[in-house]
Amino acid sequence: MIYRIVKYGDPVLEKPAEAVTEFGAPELEELLENMFESMYAARGVGLAAPQIGISRSIAVIDPSGGEDAGRRIVLINPKIIRAEGWQVQEEGCLSVPGFHEPVRRAKRVTVRAQNLKGEFFEMTGEDLLARAFQHETDHLNGRLFLSHLSALKRDLIRRKIRKMMKSGEWG
Ligand code: NI
Repeated sequence: MIYRIVKYGDPVLEKPAEAVTEFGAPELEELLENMFESMYAARGVGLAAPQIGISRSIAVIDPSGGEDAGRRIVLINPKIIRAEGWQVQEEGCLSVPGFHEPVRRAKRVTVRAQNLKGEFFEMTGEDLLARAFQHETDHLNGRLFLSHLSALKRDLIRRKIRKMMKSGEWG
């Protein structure tokens, strides 16, 4: 099932998601499957549950965009436990379509999370993967990439979005 992606302006995107405490239910597996499907349909490389209107601490990432099933990553209740170095790259978000801005992020990060079964694991990523870990954990903390931009740039984007909201171009 493909979910509609929630866009900037919906309060669900700006509140911290609830921790997942129950594992092993078929509903969780189905939700994850649907999140991957929705992410691929939207041509994204990461998707957090609040982006489909579900305020739970779950994110999916696939740096291959669906080309390689072996690269699917599920992060439940993720926390960044180590961060090193810096990188600046253009970043966008399925919930803020049409806007891409350079964002400074750590170059290499280690995330600690749980899998579908509730088992804890740690994973280290660099560059794009490190960026995805940071972008998605931000989502689960109620934070969008816009919050990493200068106030000037952020206000400019907000104004443009508000204009689109008024004219009905922002779903
Ligand atoms: Ni995003």
